[in-house]
Parts: sequence; structure tokens; C-alpha cells
Amino acid sequence: MTALQRFTGRTVILTGAASGIGQATVVRLVAEGATVIGVDTNETGLCETVTRANAGAGAGGSARYLSGSVAEESTAQRVVADVLATEGKLDVLVNLAGILRSEATTSTTLELFRQLLDVNLVGTFLFCREALPALVATRGNIVNAASTSSLFGHPYMAAYAASKGGVFALTRTLAWEYLKQGVRVNAVAPGGIATPMTAAQGESMGRLDLSLFGHLSRPDGVFGKPEHVAGVVAMLASDDGAHMTGEVVKIDGGVHN
Ligand SMILES: NC(=O)c1ccc[n+]([C@@H]2O[C@H](COP(=O)([O-])OP(=O)(O)OC[C@H]3O[C@@H](n4cnc5c(N)ncnc54)[C@H](O)[C@@H]3O)[C@@H](O)[C@H]2O)c1
Repeated sequence: MTALQRFTGRTVILTGAASGIGQATVVRLVAEGATVIGVDTNETGLCETVTRANAGAGAGGSARYLSGSVAEESTAQRVVADVLATEGKLDVLVNLAGILRSEATTSTTLELFRQLLDVNLVGTFLFCREALPALVATRGNIVNAASTSSLFGHPYMAAYAASKGGVFALTRTLAWEYLKQGVRVNAVAPGGIATPMTAAQGESMGRLDLSLFGHLSRPDGVFGKPEHVAGVVAMLASDDGAHMTGEVVKIDGGVHN
């Protein structure tokens, strides 16, 4: 367990809490004393996250969950209202819910394109919009999940990269818009982190031209761990990130240097 206790007394909403980077980040923030309300569609995973996080909770730290899809407008409204009613305030919003499908552009249906935008970009927008008034009140902050695909483009990820490019632009726009009101807005841009998402992507790679993926993985084959991203999210969301806003921090083991 970490010795840092940067989140004691702080309330956090974190989407995508059931798996991978989201689960590792809930565990990290609760270990540092946060009260975290995890949101996801996967209730089994949410229960696992809450059990793991509460087992390693730091002073005052705890986790609970509210299930729902971030793509539904009512989810963000319900979650923010619930948290304000029960906790009285909101200090941090972390948007990590996301989906990835790798597909050749000419095979990408309108339905698939819209689905990725709805979850990755619209879901992030809705949670930001609903949480911002409460974050203004606490001079809180937001951390979003962009991707190396939003910075560099990735083959066969037209929908995913476009959605994450939108998250990049949304992050920088909100950082400007809320600068004077004291709300910081940053993002992480992970690449090659070993999670259920990347494992599932690996299985679909067989039918794609793998030679185009040369620059997307490290020559030594090493993947990052969800905890590597969780630590950076925690830094950005804590007072250690107090002078950072509008940043999109790349966490890819040096693949895109
Ligand atoms: N793993 C990587 O290498 C990588 C790279 C770049 C960006 N990211 C981003 O990091 C975030 C976390 O990814 P991960 O690798 O941990 O993936 P993951 O699949 O392990 O976790 C994603 C979580 O989002 C949840 N989710 C999906 N659709 C949802 C919806 N409509 N409403 C609520 N929750 C929903 C899933 O149930 C899951 O728990 C994502 O936004 C992803 O795009 C990951």
C-alpha cells in the first residue's frame, strides 16, 4: 500500500470502475483516503473493485458503486445528484469508461462509429457537464481518458481514435473555460496497457494487416500495467497536480517518443 494520503476527505466519481485501469485507479485513490463512487455497466466487476478497494483503504477511504451506462444522459444526472445528496460535495471526476473496436475503415458501420463516440466522447462530455457546477464549488478537477491514438492516430481505429481525439479537444477546451473558476481539467493518454480491453483487441488482430502495427508496441514486447496509469491519474487529481491544467499526459512506455 502507498504511504501517500492525498485524498483523505475528498469525494471522487470514477467511470469505468469495473475493470482494468478504472479498477486499479479506484484501488489507488481509496488507498490514499478517497471516498470513491464507481460507475460502470458491469456490476460483477464493480463488486470486485469495491471489495479490493475497501480491503486496502487508507484513512477515511471507501468505495461504493452506482451502475449505469455513461452513454445515457440520465446516468450522469442520477450519479451526480446521488453523490451530492449523500456526500454533500464532489472534488474529483475521473472519466475512464471506454470501449475499443479495431476495424478497417471501410468495414466500420455507422452504428459502430456512433457507438464508440457515444461511450468514449459523449459519455465523457455528459459527466463533465453534470459535474462541473459541483466542481466549481470545491475548486475540484477532472481527469479524462484520451489515448495515444488521439495524439498520433492508429490504423484500424477510425472510430476509437476520433472519439479519443474528441476527448483530447474537450479536455483542453474545458481547461480554458474553467481556468478562472479554479477547476483543473487534464487527461491521460495511455498506450499498450495490459487490460481486458487490449487483450480483446489482440484477439481481433488476426484479420488485420499487422505490419502497420510496428510502431504501436515496444520492441521488447513489454506492456504497461493498469497501476502505471492509476498513479498518474492520482497525481493529476491530487494537489501535486495543482499547477497543471489542459495537460494530456502520455503513458506508453516510450513507444511514441
Ligand atoms: N488499455 C490501454 O492500453 C488503453 C490505451 C489508451 C486508452 N485507454 C483508455 O483507458 C480507459 C480504460 O481502459 P481499460 O484498458 O482499463 O479497458 P477495460 O475494458 O478494462 O475497462 C473499461 C471499462 O469501461 C466500462 N464501460 C464500457 N462501456 C461503458 C458504458 N457505456 N458505461 C459505463 N461503463 C462502460 C467497461 O465495462 C469496463 O469496466 C478507456 O477509456 C480506454 O479507452 C486504454
